[in-house]
Amino acid sequence: MRTGVWLVGARGSVATTSIVGALALRAGLAGPTGCVTELPDLRGPALPAFADLILGGHDVVTTPLTKRAEALAAAGVLPGPLVDALAGELVDVEAALRVAPTGGTQAERAAAVAHDLTDFRSRHALDRVVVVNVSATEPAAAAHPAHHELALLRDALAGPGEVLPTSSLYAYAAFTAGCPYVDFTPSTGARLPALAELAQERGLPYAGHDGKTGETLVKSVLAPMFAMRNLAVRSWSGVNLLGGGDGATLAEPAANAAKVSSKQRVLGETLGYLPQGGTRIEYVAELGDFKTAWDLVTFAGFLGTGMRLEFTWHGCDSALAAPLVLDLARLTAAAHAAGRRGPLAELAFFFKDPLDAPTHALAEQWALLRDFVTGLHAGAGR
Ligand SMILES: NC(=O)c1ccc[n+]([C@@H]2O[C@H](COP(=O)([O-])OP(=O)(O)OC[C@H]3O[C@@H](n4cnc5c(N)ncnc54)[C@H](O)[C@@H]3O)[C@@H](O)[C@H]2O)c1
Repeated sequence: MRTGVWLVGARGSVATTSIVGALALRAGLAGPTGCVTELPDLRGPALPAFADLILGGHDVVTTPLTKRAEALAAAGVLPGPLVDALAGELVDVEAALRVAPTGGTQAERAAAVAHDLTDFRSRHALDRVVVVNVSATEPAAAAHPAHHELALLRDALAGPGEVLPTSSLYAYAAFTAGCPYVDFTPSTGARLPALAELAQERGLPYAGHDGKTGETLVKSVLAPMFAMRNLAVRSWSGVNLLGGGDGATLAEPAANAAKVSSKQRVLGETLGYLPQGGTRIEYVAELGDFKTAWDLVTFAGFLGTGMRLEFTWHGCDSALAAPLVLDLARLTAAAHAAGRRGPLAELAFFFKDPLDAPTHALAEQWALLRDFVTGLHAGAGR
C-alpha cells in the first residue's frame, strides 16, 4: 500500500524528525523504538510498511531540510551520523516539499493546496495520501456562521474574508483532494461541523487533536489511578518549560491558551471534577527542543489525610512526537483503506484532546486502539 504522508509544517522540528525517522527505518538504519504500531499487539498486514511511506509537505519557510536536520543533530535531537548517511534521501524529500500558497481568496488557496496533494499522489503513484498537520499552533478560531454548514462554507471561502483558520483550510483542502487528515496540534483543524460534513460526503476519516507526548501522557496514567483508588485530588498544578519553535509560538498568549485548555481536559474528564490549579507553559530558549514539565499533585486519603505527589519529566519533544506521527499516518491510511469515514475515536490513545473519545484514561484508550487495529488486520486478511 503506497502511502503518501503530507506534512503541513514540513520544515519544523517534529516534521523533520519524522522525515529523518521514516527514511532511517526504510533504510534499516534505525529501529522502531517509540513506534506503537510496531508492538506485537498492533503489527500486521493492514498497515503500510515503513518502506511504503512517501513523504512530502507544505511550509511557509524555505530553509533546506538538510539544514533543519543538521540543526536538530547539533541540538542533540537527531544522531549526526544518521543525518549524514541520509543526505541523498533528504534531497529527494526536499523535491516533494511545496511553499504554502499565499494571496488570493481562501478558496483559491485551498484549491492550490488540493492541487499539490493530487499532483503528489499521481506523480508517486500513491494509493492514498494522509495529510498530517504539524505546523505552528494557532490561536482558537473566531466563530463564523459558515463553520456550521458546508454549502455556506463553500460560498464564504470564495469571498474576500478569512473564514477558516489555516489548519482548517488545510483540512478543507485535504478532504477536497480525497485525503484523510490528522491534526497533531491543538489548532481547530477538522473540528468544525461543515468540515465533518465534507469528510462524510467524501468518505474520509480524520483524527486529532494535539499529540500526547509528555506531561499529559503521564496525567492520563496517574489521574485514572487516583480515581480508581477513590482518592480525592485537591490540586494539580503543572509548569512546562520549553524552547524550540513550538516554545516560541506558545509564548504568544492566544496560542498558549489553546494549548493549555487542551492539556487540562484529561483531569476533568477522568476525575469527574476539576481540582484546583492549572498548567503553565513558559518559553526558555536555552532548552531548545527539550522540555521539562514539573507537576505537583495534592490529594486526600482515608479520613481526609493530606498527601502529595510530584513528578518531573525531561523529554525531547520531537523524538517523542515523530514516531507517533508515523503511527498515525499508518493507522489512518489503514482506516481509509478499510472504508472508515468521520472521526477516528479509536485513535484517542495518541491525543491530549481526542475527537469523540469515550475515555481519557490511557489504559482504556490502549484497549480501544488494540481492538480497532485487530479488526483492521482481520479485514485486510480476508
Ligand atoms: N513535539 C511534541 O511533542 C508535540 C506534541 C503535541 C503537539 N505538538 C505540536 O506540533 C506542532 C509542531 O511542533 P514543532 O516543535 O515541530 O514546531 P516548529 O515551530 O518547529 O515547526 C512548525 C512549522 O510550521 C511551519 N508553519 C507555520 N505556519 C504554517 C502554515 N501556514 N503552513 C505551513 N507551515 C507552516 C513553520 O514554518 C515551522 O516550520 C506544534 O503545533 C506543536 O504544538 C508537538
